[in-house]
Amino acid sequence: MNKTEIYYFSGTGNSLVVARDLAKRMEGNLISITSVMDKKRITTDADVIGIVFPVYYLGTVNIPLVVQRFVMKLDEISTKYIFAVCTYGGGSGSTLKILDEMIKARGGHLASGFGVQMPQNAFRKPFENKTKLYNNWKEKKLDFIQGRVQEKNEGGFDRDGPFIKLFLNILSVMMNNHYLKPFFINPMKSTAKLSKDADLTMDEIIPLMDRSYHTDEHCTGCQTCLNVCKVHNIEMVDNKPEWQHHCENCLACIKWCPQQAIHGYGELPKSYHHPEVKISDMTTPKK
Ligand SMILES: Cc1cc2nc3c(=O)[nH]c(=O)nc-3n(C[C@H](O)[C@H](O)[C@H](O)COP(=O)(O)O)c2cc1C
Repeated sequence: MNKTEIYYFSGTGNSLVVARDLAKRMEGNLISITSVMDKKRITTDADVIGIVFPVYYLGTVNIPLVVQRFVMKLDEISTKYIFAVCTYGGGSGSTLKILDEMIKARGGHLASGFGVQMPQNAFRKPFENKTKLYNNWKEKKLDFIQGRVQEKNEGGFDRDGPFIKLFLNILSVMMNNHYLKPFFINPMKSTAKLSKDADLTMDEIIPLMDRSYHTDEHCTGCQTCLNVCKVHNIEMVDNKPEWQHHCENCLACIKWCPQQAIHGYGELPKSYHHPEVKISDMTTPKK
C-alpha cells in the first residue's frame, strides 16, 4: 500500500476540511505545512504527497506565500506521485499550473490537481450556502480525487468551466465599478498606497498588509488571534495583538476573533470559519 502524506495550509478551515477528509479516506498522515517550515529541506519516505491550500489573489500570487516556500523546500521528489487540491471562492484559474511549474523546479511534477469550490472567506459575507453545496457533492468529489490518486492517474488539472470563467469576468467588472465597490472587500485598497509609494510586488506587499490591522474597543485580549496565526505573526503587547509584518493574509485572526474586534482588511469583516472546523483544529499542530 502507498504511504501517503497530505500537507495543508488553511486560514478559515475550508482547506483543512478537504485535507482531513482525504487523509482519512487514503489513510494518510495529515500534516500542517507550517509545522514543517523550520526544516531547511523537506524530504519524505511517502510515495504519495498531497498539497491542499486556498487560492489567494487569482492572477497575482495565486498560491499562499508559505505554500510557495514549502514547495521550494521539497527535495528528492522526482519519483513521488504528487497531487494538489486548491480550494477557492470563485475560480482557480492557472493556480494548479503555476504550482506544477514550481514543483518542476524542484525536480518533480504535479501528477494531478483538483479544485474544490468553497465559501469565499475574503468577502464581507461569505456565501454560506456553498458549504451546503460542498456537503451535497463532497462524497462524489472526494471519491473522484481518491480514485485518481489511488490509480496514480496523470490526470492533468481541473480547469474552470465556461460559467465560472464568465462569472469571474463579471465579478471583476463589478468589483471595479464605482457604485458596486462598497459591497466588496477590495484587498488592494489598504495596500494601494504602499505599492504606489514603494513600488513593491504583490509578494512583497502581502506580508505587510497587516499594517492596517487593528482592534477596536471590543478586544478582550483573549489571544484567539495569536493562537490561530499559523505563522506566528502576532505578539501580545499590553494585552492587545500587534502584527509583525510577516503576514500570510489568511484572515484567520480576523475571521476567528470571537468579538469581531479586528479590522483593517477592507470594510468591516464578519466572522467566518468552516462549520466542521473548531478552533482547536486550527491551533494544533503548531510549532
Ligand atoms: C487573501 C485572500 C485572497 C483570496 N483570493 C481569492 C481569489 O482570488 N479567487 C478565489 O476564488 N478565492 C479567493 N479567496 C477565497 C479562498 O480561496 C477560499 O475561501 C478558500 O476556500 C479559503 O480557504 P481556507 O478556509 O482553507 O483558508 C481568497 C481568500 C483570501 C483570504
